[in-house]
Amino acid sequence: MLTYEQNEMITRVGPGAPMGELFRNYWIPFLPSADLERDGEPMRVRLLCEDLVAFRDSEGRVGLVDHACPHRGAPMLFARNEDCGLRCVYHGWKFHRDGRTVDTPAEPERSRFKDNVKIKAYPCQERNGVVWAWMGKGAPPPLPNFEWNMVPAENVVVTFRIQECNWLQALEGEIDSAHAPLLHGRADSEGFINQWRAVADLRPTFDCLRQDFGVSIASRRANEVDSYYWRVNQFVLPFFTCVPPQSKFPELSGHAWMPIDDENTMAIMFSYRPDGPMYEKSREVFLNGHKGRQAAHATHDVYAPKTRMEPFAKYWTKFNPGNTYQFNYEDQKSTYNSGLPGLWVQDAACQSGVAAIYDRTKENLATSDTGIVATRRLLLELAGQYKDKGVKPPRADDPDLYMVRAISVRLPKDARWQSECKDFMRAELGKGLGYEP
Ligand code: FES
Ligand SMILES: [Fe+2]
Repeated sequence: MLTYEQNEMITRVGPGAPMGELFRNYWIPFLPSADLERDGEPMRVRLLCEDLVAFRDSEGRVGLVDHACPHRGAPMLFARNEDCGLRCVYHGWKFHRDGRTVDTPAEPERSRFKDNVKIKAYPCQERNGVVWAWMGKGAPPPLPNFEWNMVPAENVVVTFRIQECNWLQALEGEIDSAHAPLLHGRADSEGFINQWRAVADLRPTFDCLRQDFGVSIASRRANEVDSYYWRVNQFVLPFFTCVPPQSKFPELSGHAWMPIDDENTMAIMFSYRPDGPMYEKSREVFLNGHKGRQAAHATHDVYAPKTRMEPFAKYWTKFNPGNTYQFNYEDQKSTYNSGLPGLWVQDAACQSGVAAIYDRTKENLATSDTGIVATRRLLLELAGQYKDKGVKPPRADDPDLYMVRAISVRLPKDARWQSECKDFMRAELGKGLGYEP
């Protein structure tokens, strides 16, 4: 349970909000590179409550500028993307991706006025098909070395979808390993979900370890006589999660829960194999679904685009609070425990909950919420320290801090997971899992 003040502090991410200021110490992923064409149509986006447009200029570089023109506020969505800049269609002022005003055609010819006006602009970098923005103060550090964003393209699937709730609600779902066999369980005997090792023991014991990168959240299940089954999920600062592989297709997965604003989240999901191409079967299921239903990723045909004036117009989906996530009470008896059609839909429906920002003064946290408590505590501490003393989280600028894996491994009963799993949890390009999940 949080107090009202703590809930406000941990959820709100706009400029000036403590959590929003903490997040601005990190690179923010927000769009697939393929969405932006050189000299093509600008795209409305919103990051951490800031309304912006993204575009790719004539040099092929991505720009991210204020949606409001700094002259008299015309929408920069309508701007002409030409000759290395965005030209506002209202009075023709033109801006470089670095924010400089480079032309003001309606001003006197010798006017130096434009030298004093800038559009808000954030530097962007791209790596392996993902665009990242730096919204922080000062020169940006190197991009974080997330393994999913470094492995060869054939090893990884990355998908984007919008989830209509606060980023923390979404994130908390993925560090909570106790829900998996219950929410995602089936009422019938079909489907590989019933073969999850996690199903064999619904009452895991939790243990958390604070790390410089975030929190390791270990759950221990007593599946066999002589060993424990350990699953370690990772919370990685500021809003990333990693989930362990399952045995059948042991790919690593996780999310960037990028806050669009306080009430909407861009769920950027990644699945990858560290040491080889993605299993064809997995790729097929991720992109096309399983028997007509959604699997872990949003399928290619799940989108219900909004008008382009909306941020990230093309990533709104057909499963949302407005249509009850297509919940079906009959299905609840015959197929899925939840009656919700597909894996991520089940998560999204529960995470979006009864409100975009759930009132955490009303919750009753239990033993299985240990990881959530540890994660919140860390986030509140870091946001408080940054707000009160300007102290940044340790090693936030170190790109290798983010070389982390989630794991699922069987260990002898007397083994200590922290020491036994240390190597498995460290990512290294090309390195295999090192164990049978
Ligand atoms: S409002 Fe954009 S140039 Fe005037
Ligand atoms: Fe889930």
